[in-house]
Amino acid sequence: MLEKTDTDGVAVGDRRVLVGTTDEVTPGRGKVIDCSGREIAIFNIGGQFHALDNLCPHKEAPLEDGLLVREEGRDWLVCPWHRFLFDPCTGKCDRPGFDTRVYPLSVESGRIYVEV
Ligand code: FES
Repeated sequence: MLEKTDTDGVAVGDRRVLVGTTDEVTPGRGKVIDCSGREIAIFNIGGQFHALDNLCPHKEAPLEDGLLVREEGRDWLVCPWHRFLFDPCTGKCDRPGFDTRVYPLSVESGRIYVEV
């Protein structure tokens, strides 16, 4: 089986990194963290935390500045520049070919960990 690696050659999911605490991520707002040179946006949606690449795959807008909206029972992250929609759980984009990467995230005792 092939192992996925990032640009540094580190196996994806190999590193579990403490990125902050839950009280540092305001509900409905994004918080960007630098994780080994990679910008990751953390979102708190109703107490559920999500981690996505911060740069929009379209033209690299900072997704941390995106608006969170709820439509038809689903949460969406709206890119601040051209308003493409992203599912914060899966990274799926409403436009073909622009899905973004999500990272496994866990919360333990109020601490947020992301696997990169
Ligand atoms: S930069 Fe995000 S939709 Fe264009």
